[in-house]
Amino acid sequence: MSIEATDEVLAGLEHWRGIPAAHQPTWPDIEALEAVTSELREWPPLVFAGEADSLRAKMAAAARGEAFVLQGGDCAETFAESTADRIRNKIRTILQMAAVLTYGASVPVVKLGRMAGQYAKPRSSDLETRDGVTLPVYRGDAVNGHAFTAASRTPDPERLLRAYHHSATTINLIRAFTQGGYADLRLVHDWNRGFMSNPAYARYEVLAGEIDRAMRFMDAAGVDFDALKTVDFYSSHEALLLDYEAALTRIDSRTGDPYNTSAHFLWIGERTRQADGAHVDLLSRVRNPIGVKLGPTTSGDDALALMDKLNPEGEPGRLTFITRMGARKIRDVLPGLVERVTADGRPVTWVCDPMHGNTITSPSGYKTRELATILDEVRGFFEVHQALGTVPGGLHVELTGDDVTEVLGGSEEVDDAALASRYETLVDPRLNHQQSLEMAFDVAEMLRGN
Ligand code: PEP
Ligand code: CO
Repeated sequence: MSIEATDEVLAGLEHWRGIPAAHQPTWPDIEALEAVTSELREWPPLVFAGEADSLRAKMAAAARGEAFVLQGGDCAETFAESTADRIRNKIRTILQMAAVLTYGASVPVVKLGRMAGQYAKPRSSDLETRDGVTLPVYRGDAVNGHAFTAASRTPDPERLLRAYHHSATTINLIRAFTQGGYADLRLVHDWNRGFMSNPAYARYEVLAGEIDRAMRFMDAAGVDFDALKTVDFYSSHEALLLDYEAALTRIDSRTGDPYNTSAHFLWIGERTRQADGAHVDLLSRVRNPIGVKLGPTTSGDDALALMDKLNPEGEPGRLTFITRMGARKIRDVLPGLVERVTADGRPVTWVCDPMHGNTITSPSGYKTRELATILDEVRGFFEVHQALGTVPGGLHVELTGDDVTEVLGGSEEVDDAALASRYETLVDPRLNHQQSLEMAFDVAEMLRGN
């Protein structure tokens, strides 16, 4: 039997349209946009509501300290790089980091890709000028092209359909890899094949050897390994383009409740988190687990207003605060916020994004970040929660599985001169594969210390 939504619920899903929405593209042809969104409304959901429910339960466990969330992927996925190799490399990086954290700190890891839908970006300026020519800024592949020509930079709603298709092929490959045997923990060595000649990989190889030995012991002791064959791997992206997110918001036939079926987990960005804004309104009406980015200017009142809107009943796992304060500020700014939220009593999952508060321009002009600063923010996050007796619930990072040179530092020391050799991101700098593993080893130690 299929349960339908009430008229009130359906009307509520349209309410955001009457509220100003920040960071939306100026689509040149509204009729073309409407044609696209009515097509999207007919297409199948990308995720199942029941999966979003199981993720919500896991986010609740992370808020209690019984699991740790690892959310990672590109700042901006691109259509051109939605290839099998790139996707596999990202999945493998997240699986390896999760193995390091699980084994190093004896805690289950909730794996959440910034993948299969991360195609839209808020930008600080609407326009970009180069050599006297001014064009609309690049807002992600779901909106326009990165090439600096008028044709490419004009927002094109057909791109929303391509974003859906790339999300579908990406989530399909994620499901194939994580359910089809690739993620089997017995392959923990194989994930590292071909990468032996640097300290982070050597350290990983030692850990993989220990995991192998532990598994041979359990095998000999008669443990059933079926549980290790598959892993749960969830999708997430910033819910920025409200026309797209609304078109993929569907009624769950089991319950009559709305879910956003474009991803399991959606977050609201630092620039669109106004409690009375359109993004918060739309996401307040779906049942998925929801995140909100909180920057250094967030007040306790802001946080409580978001809780009132997004999780009035205090449902465990529903609301995640992803703090991105910057390494220099986190120890000063985070404690007051955590205290206010904790005093309220409604549960929140605290996740650290050590990337977005630490972006700098290198002397040679690249937008970059330093691995040491990133790790310092994570350390500050753990220190604050430890001092307050609250729970550091997870980590949110921009990473890729490839050997790019976008973030400074690491044991294979990327310096300013090296940035030019493989700087590929279209928006923010990402940890490369070995910097990601290095971070996982450090965070495992912090988790253990906790
Ligand atoms: C992002 O996650 O890429 C992003 C834009 O973050 P924030 O909203 O925290 O600035
Ligand atoms: Co980013």
